[in-house]
Amino acid sequence: MYKYMQLFQGTSFSSKSSKEIQILKNYLFCINADGMIEQVVAPEDAEYQSLLDTYQGSDNFHRLEEGQYFLPGFVDLHVHAPQWAQSGTALDIPLYDWLNTYTFPLESKFSDLDFAKKVYDEVVSTLLANGTTTALYFATVHKEASLLLAEICANKGQRGLVGKVVMDDPEQNPEYYRDADTKAALADTEEFIIAVQELAKSTKQGVYPVVTPRFIPSCTDEGLKGLGELAAKYDTYVQSHCSESDWAHGYVQDRYNKNDAFALHDFGLLRDKSVMAHCNFLDDPDVDLFAQTGTAIAHCPVSNAYFANSVIPVAHIHSKGVEIGLGSDISGGFSPSLFDNIRQAVISSRMLEDGVNTSLPAEERGVPGSRITIHEAFYLATAGGGESLSLPIGRIQENYTWDVQVIDTKCPSAKLPIFDENEDLQDIFQKIMYLVRPEHIREVWVQGEKVHSR
Ligand code: GUN
Ligand code: FE
Repeated sequence: MYKYMQLFQGTSFSSKSSKEIQILKNYLFCINADGMIEQVVAPEDAEYQSLLDTYQGSDNFHRLEEGQYFLPGFVDLHVHAPQWAQSGTALDIPLYDWLNTYTFPLESKFSDLDFAKKVYDEVVSTLLANGTTTALYFATVHKEASLLLAEICANKGQRGLVGKVVMDDPEQNPEYYRDADTKAALADTEEFIIAVQELAKSTKQGVYPVVTPRFIPSCTDEGLKGLGELAAKYDTYVQSHCSESDWAHGYVQDRYNKNDAFALHDFGLLRDKSVMAHCNFLDDPDVDLFAQTGTAIAHCPVSNAYFANSVIPVAHIHSKGVEIGLGSDISGGFSPSLFDNIRQAVISSRMLEDGVNTSLPAEERGVPGSRITIHEAFYLATAGGGESLSLPIGRIQENYTWDVQVIDTKCPSAKLPIFDENEDLQDIFQKIMYLVRPEHIREVWVQGEKVHSR
């Protein structure tokens, strides 16, 4: 009899803290029937050889080949699943125009469940193939199609947190794309929450309903208040866009004479289970309010460069105790890969620190202390995302889920430049962070189940 469902042997990279990685060289990872890492065994431990003797040769033993490594699966904290259909287009216009000319017409098509199925099947598979094992999704205003997205996540084995989007203000939203009225928006949200909580019971990895006011400009006060009450009643996650662009930020100031953070808080929408996307224009009291309420930030560095012309001060916000993870913001961000967002998070932070106004002397440019390292950006995409969602995900260590990607640095069509067999593992980690593409991601596992391989 085998004590564990699965035994994996190989080298893993995972965050020890937000600044440091832990490298476990040639360890054994023992996975139980619930898909959790029950035991991590070092080569020098007494049990190592006996475990190997027991499992080697059986179907539940997996040894990585030379040049392969385990990374935690990525946690994408901000994805608009329907917008996958327009990824890569229309990024040269401002947010408000982009929403009205491209995005709302596209999202309105998700009343058609056949169309929704095509797009949602592909976006979930694409994210898995890019190493994203957990995703926090905006769907559309349509209850049925939103539920379909949750079902697709459930069936494909991804840990999906899904929101039916609320846009209940008839003054602000186009007639062809909005909730029928506030009452219907709240009733649909409640039915959606109940249906997803029921669906979750038949999954191993979990799927979760998310209360999702699109952003303050698309909702009435009554709608926002009702959503805060539903989040409390069903103890759900909450997501929205917060202080994203000058336009959206200014709109909320005009309406309430407050920043988004305090306005959302007034409606009960800042909770320990809240994740707010973008947050480009937070003032320090907003940051403190996030820390007090346990609200996390989805940092979307690619999207922010386009729609907000902005870089959020990740290092400063983190130092104030706010949880932060990474978001692709498909399709405000063009890439489905959190590797791309890790890279952009580092690049953007360097631009913030060093400034770009070369007419100033070097010491007067930029904001000192802003840069983050590749290790910190990796943390955001993995453990930071897990902490933001208060789930035991994003790390390869005991009592975390077995959510991993197997990276093959020797992939024949795209070998990474590793010429010394004994190259320092810290250097190999950095090459992986900067150079990996989807073809290097050989396998993806969620909660102990293989969900992708190539
Ligand atoms: N603000 C309101 N809706 C959206 C959206 O779909 N994408 C982005 N990036 N910002 C938004
Ligand atoms: Fe967004």
